[in-house]
Amino acid sequence: MMESVATLLARGELLLQVSDSAALDTELLLAYTLDIDRTWLKTWPNHQPVTEQIATFEQLLLRRLNGEPIAFIIGTQGFWTLNLKVSPQTLIPRPETELLVETALKIWKPANCRALDLGTGSGAIALALASERPGWQLTAVDSIDGAVQLAEINRQNCQLDNVAIYQSDWFKQIPKTDGESKYHLIISNPPYIEVGDPHLKQGDVRFEPESALVSGLDGLHDLKHIIHSATDYLEPTGWLLVEHGYQQGVDVRGLFLAAGFTSVQTEVDLNFLDRVTLGCLP
Ligand SMILES: C[S@@+](CC[C@H](N)C(=O)[O-])C[C@H]1O[C@@H](n2cnc3c(N)ncnc32)[C@H](O)[C@@H]1O
Repeated sequence: MMESVATLLARGELLLQVSDSAALDTELLLAYTLDIDRTWLKTWPNHQPVTEQIATFEQLLLRRLNGEPIAFIIGTQGFWTLNLKVSPQTLIPRPETELLVETALKIWKPANCRALDLGTGSGAIALALASERPGWQLTAVDSIDGAVQLAEINRQNCQLDNVAIYQSDWFKQIPKTDGESKYHLIISNPPYIEVGDPHLKQGDVRFEPESALVSGLDGLHDLKHIIHSATDYLEPTGWLLVEHGYQQGVDVRGLFLAAGFTSVQTEVDLNFLDRVTLGCLP
């Protein structure tokens, strides 16, 4: 039976009712199947996809029904102004992480800046900053080879020449030098979920690797290491900015102060939850 775009959308939405974004998910999957953008679906509701396209669409709906994140099914995710490839080797970039990018752009005004993105994953933070500030020199590292490769593909697709991406276990492979090559900004969205947190068994995170999510019994293992070590890699008056869980604000501010940072403050996300803490060296 031939079906129109409008009927396929209605059928998909009904099937995906368990998702709180059923209509959007269905549109994204049909647009991906037909290799067109979502506005096309609105313009041509009576178009009738061919049988093979309908079969593909139905397979994608079933994957979504099974809980697989839309970004992994269609292979991309929008972040800031960029369309980034994603992979099960690392985190799908989240909208709340855009607060890190916004905050970095707000605190560092000079046109030139050496900035380091630790745990770059898809490259989201470094590439967003590089796209906004062509005069900045970004370094982006991740410990997972698949993430480094993904970030490099995204860098090439975004045609950004001011980002160097390589593999490093946090600061380990980053040269510790005096003066000239220290960083003005260090930015990180590290893993910060507690081992055994029940949220790890719900939603999209079931499909993402533990290496991108989990950080010791208290969720603070990596944050402690990054905050403590960053002081050796920052210029005087350089800033460290980290994303963390909404219940970790007090602990993270304490870690910044203990490491000798000043002007320590926490920014809240769109839901008014503690999300990004920053501080600068004296
Ligand atoms: C929460 S994800 C963030 C990814 C990306 N920055 C973003 O915001 O979408 C954390 C990232 O840290 C990386 N990571 C975990 N342990 C690391 C380590 N020891 N050294 C460097 N990167 C690490 C993970 O592979 C993952 O890509």
